[in-house]
Amino acid sequence: MHHLPGFACPCSAAMRCGILAVARGAAWIAVGLAAVGAAEPDPRAKRPPRPERSAAARAEAVRQLREAYRRPPAQWPAPHVDPGVEWREIGLVPEVVHPESNPYTAAKAELGRLLFFDARLSAAGKMACVSCHEPNLGWADGRAVSQPHGRSPQRNTPTIRNTAFRTHLFWDGRAGSLEQQVEEALTDPAEMAADRDAVVGLLARSPGYRQLFADAFAGRSPSFAAVVEAVACFERTIVSGRSRFDRFLRGDAAAVADAEILGLDLFRRDARCMNCHHGPTFSDGRFHDLGLSFYGRRTEDLGRHAVTGAEADRGRFRTPGLRDVTHTTPLMHNGMFELSGVLNMYNAGMVTLKRQPYQRDDPAFPVKSPHLKPLGLNRQDLADLAAFLGALEEPRQRVLPPPLPAIEGEPVTATRQPPGR
Ligand code: HEC
Ligand code: HEC
Repeated sequence: MHHLPGFACPCSAAMRCGILAVARGAAWIAVGLAAVGAAEPDPRAKRPPRPERSAAARAEAVRQLREAYRRPPAQWPAPHVDPGVEWREIGLVPEVVHPESNPYTAAKAELGRLLFFDARLSAAGKMACVSCHEPNLGWADGRAVSQPHGRSPQRNTPTIRNTAFRTHLFWDGRAGSLEQQVEEALTDPAEMAADRDAVVGLLARSPGYRQLFADAFAGRSPSFAAVVEAVACFERTIVSGRSRFDRFLRGDAAAVADAEILGLDLFRRDARCMNCHHGPTFSDGRFHDLGLSFYGRRTEDLGRHAVTGAEADRGRFRTPGLRDVTHTTPLMHNGMFELSGVLNMYNAGMVTLKRQPYQRDDPAFPVKSPHLKPLGLNRQDLADLAAFLGALEEPRQRVLPPPLPAIEGEPVTATRQPPGR
């Protein structure tokens, strides 16, 4: 784990715990903000935590909220969102609609699953999609940052879950479809570095794969386009829907604990999360600057700006979904944070980057989202909010690698994770 230049992390091991230093007075705000580099607490961040509730007041709040959230979502208390935000209620994930250009068939999705696990497609024969998108790690990799990722700087591996519902893939939204995303992942030198012709040649040497392609693609032999379609089709089958919050939405009031109900209400109202994390997957699909761009520093990542070139997009990243987020730490595009640190930062109104003297009149200086404001939440509130995010956890699933078809001259080698850091 690297330390950032320009400050000493006061915390023992990894820099991501710098931000976590649990509330000791206001000190953690300074610690947390210093950790993201050249940042200073927003003057408005001085908002003091609101008083904690007594046990009796808390029990009464739970009673009222259980009553309110037992009703259909259309009758839930109105969320706290800023004027102009087009929000959708959080709720059950809908059926996936597969595109007409790549309709679902069971044979195609199954072929895609095998390809997802098959490291022989990569240039070195050792890396598969599953090396970085591990089903047992919430379809992410549990690492801070992955390999340098082609055109983009080092980034945290997101889950592939619910990507069927995204219109923009990757943290900066540079891929407009899962097909485009798969093509990039396969050929990106920093990922699988696969050569199109080599992949097709390889698959053609496998009677097993030839049969599977014929079954999935009306008798056709393996092609690169078919590989891409099959993997994208498989990705669209990986969706959420088995969390305790989902059970609650289906009418099982006992599926969520008291703290989680309090957290649900905080999420929708006093913590203002619904300004960006809304809809069934808890993402508005839009791009926002949370102050984590490290503008002007070695670790700078301007996110969306690299794709659109628009000044307003400097430092903006796509709002990630929050379903199963507790299984995909470390968090954020740079993988620097644990959940408690993220919540502490939101409570402080997030990071306000400090302009260096030479940046005083810099018109390109990234502008933090106006939706972020100090929240004044107390320790109880933060714990409740964290508890609610825990209720979005999918049950852990133990997915074993499927047996792969033999390829002439290609032994199946152990699939590896990329070199650690
Ligand atoms: C070396 C690790 C690695 C490998 C191998 C890899 N990925 Fe990724 N994947 C990443 C990282 C890192 C990102 C985020 C990159 C970014 O946003 O710039 C990503 C992003 C994605 C996304 C976008 C998710 C979102 O929310 O937008 C999908 C989907 C995905 N990968 C699927 C795949 C598939 C399919 C394969 C195999 C063909 C694959 N990945 C191989 C590391 C990897
Ligand atoms: C202004 C829009 C906005 C608001 C308001 C907002 N978020 Fe976020 N959230 C984002 C964006 C954008 C990211 C990714 C930022 C990045 O990586 O630079 C993110 C990232 C996260 C992550 C990390 C997810 C991951 O997979 O890495 C968590 C957890 C999170 N937000 C929870 C919350 C909670 C809880 C609230 C309310 C207290 C909240 N957010 C309010 C936009 C927002």
